[in-house]
Amino acid sequence: MKILVVGSGGREHALCWSIAASPLCDKLYCAPGNAGIAEEAECVPIPADDIRGLVAFAVGNAIDFVVVGPEAPLVAGLADRLEAEGIRTFGPSADAAILEGSKAFMKDLCFRYGIPTAAYGRFTNVGAAKEFVRQRGAPIVIKADGLAAGKGVVIARTVEEADAAIDAMLAEHRFGAASDEIVVEEFLAGEEASFFALVDGETALPLASAQDHKAVGDGDTGPNTGGMGAYSPAPVMTDEMTERVMREIVEPTVRAMKEEGRPFRGVLFAGLMITAEGPRLLEFNVRFGDPECQVLCLRLMSDLLPALVAARDGELAHFQLRWRPEAAVTVVLASKGYPGDYVKGTEIRGLDQARALDGVTIFHAGTARAEDGRLLATGGRVLNVCATGATIAEARQRAYEAVDRIDWPEGFCRRDIAWRAVKSGR
Ligand code: AMP
Ligand code: GLY
Repeated sequence: MKILVVGSGGREHALCWSIAASPLCDKLYCAPGNAGIAEEAECVPIPADDIRGLVAFAVGNAIDFVVVGPEAPLVAGLADRLEAEGIRTFGPSADAAILEGSKAFMKDLCFRYGIPTAAYGRFTNVGAAKEFVRQRGAPIVIKADGLAAGKGVVIARTVEEADAAIDAMLAEHRFGAASDEIVVEEFLAGEEASFFALVDGETALPLASAQDHKAVGDGDTGPNTGGMGAYSPAPVMTDEMTERVMREIVEPTVRAMKEEGRPFRGVLFAGLMITAEGPRLLEFNVRFGDPECQVLCLRLMSDLLPALVAARDGELAHFQLRWRPEAAVTVVLASKGYPGDYVKGTEIRGLDQARALDGVTIFHAGTARAEDGRLLATGGRVLNVCATGATIAEARQRAYEAVDRIDWPEGFCRRDIAWRAVKSGR
């Protein structure tokens, strides 16, 4: 098969790494890719949001199968456009990607089909939203309806903070059209987990669980980022909890989407809060998590590519995947200043020494090669230093040993990835 992966982050590097290892893959392209991905795939300089460019490339190069990494092109209809050209695509149609594209849609679907999630209201009017906040009290959560690159959620500890967030989103249009409507929802206390399932329109095949660290600073402090590290499995996702999440959240959603005439195909990523009363859905994403995908790929023993094809083809019912018993941890190296402003183009050294360590794999998230071959940082999140180990503690120790061999003065990382699991003795 000739395969095209769309995207340029650590998630797409992990996907390319897995797909390149498949005996089914004859030729692998990635658009636009990065310096690490270039070791696995031929990178083509088409941005992930250039729908016309991607479709033209896929048609012109007789691509057999496309794997879409990020959500924005899915919400914009990339899978529909490729399928219309007869190109099989892993990733939902725009009609189904609305599960991530509109939080209001997702909440209403949960309400109609009895899927457990936080109590909520939908608002386009500032006064009505503030009135709802007064009825419910703080803490309370304010969310932009549409895609806001992970920044559209405010956890308000006081009514004043909630009011400010409502003003910023509805009145000041902080996120443009994405915050023309907002969801105001109940604050849920508990432990978070990311849970993934492949879905073929009817059948859901559970993948593995993971936990990521969204806050930029140690101890989960500071502003939210795309994710500063992750580990898998998530100890809070016991077999029993996994079964509940499948039965109470994932399977009812798959049935609901089919009933709504929006069959979901692709990977369904449930952001969960495990509360004292059981699992509650925080959000759905319609793509793999980044950096969760990196640790899932490291733990997957089976060939990923046929599983992605089966999800596209509606053939997951009899599909099985095997997982390594080992744990995996990834530590994100980011440019100093991220998630605010940072300097681009600084040089990274020492990757070969780092990846020579036992069990260590490095995925690139934001890198490019200079003409003279030097490796340069080009993004906020730059490298994913990953390791496997018998326990989460061992995997984490290996990952940090590798981090310490990397020579990049302009970068930083959190030093406490997986602290919760390690504290609980995993
Ligand atoms: P989301 O983009 O919806 O996943 O929200 C980003 C982060 O905000 C989540 O990972 C949670 O840490 C937090 N969050 C979202 N919704 C809630 C909620 N209802 N209660 C508590 N925390 C929440
Ligand atoms: N790591 C969270 C996300 O990909 O949305």
